[in-house]
Amino acid sequence: MGKLFICDHPLIQHKLTFIRDENTKTKDFRELVDEVATLMAYEITRDIPLEHVQVKTPVTTADCRIISGRMLGLIPILRAGLGMVDGVLKLIPAAKVGHVGLYRDPDTLQPVEYYVKLPTDVLERELIVIDPMLATGGSANAAIEVLKRRGCTQMKLMCLIAAPEGIKAVQQEHPDVDIYVAAVDDYLNDHGYIVPGLGDAGDRLFGTK
Ligand code: URA
Repeated sequence: MGKLFICDHPLIQHKLTFIRDENTKTKDFRELVDEVATLMAYEITRDIPLEHVQVKTPVTTADCRIISGRMLGLIPILRAGLGMVDGVLKLIPAAKVGHVGLYRDPDTLQPVEYYVKLPTDVLERELIVIDPMLATGGSANAAIEVLKRRGCTQMKLMCLIAAPEGIKAVQQEHPDVDIYVAAVDDYLNDHGYIVPGLGDAGDRLFGTK
């Protein structure tokens, strides 16, 4: 089963409190989500491999380490995932960014892809799928499926807040995908909102409501 990592660094938890607050306005909400994404990027990259190199310092030769292995790709799920991309790019500026857009078919209630644009070298990259709210897990599962169908094999899922239902759904359908969250909330209400949550992440990020 995929592992669940809760990024409980005090700075993340502090900022998440203001993100949740209904009185936080769009500008501050956007900035806080961006900052938390940067801090979470620090946690999510903790296991990336390093290799040894030597550099000449002004004094002597030093044994040092640099990042090796696969390069990274960010895959925000449209539209709320966009709100975390810049924050991650601050720490991983060389990452390429693909986009996956999904909507829910009103009859079947199944997610349908309406937009997929991936880096040309996506198969060589380790991917971070980004969606702030892991609610039912439907969108995350569908986005991961979109990537797997195209041959991608290595990915992590990064969310701000998850409901237990969403975590379970992703762990069942994609046991190879580790999940990184800032918080696990209580449950999903009848309207599909995470409780206590933060409301609609897309609306709060983009000021549409
Ligand atoms: N999507 C959101 O934006 N908020 C929720 O609470 C659940 C899904």
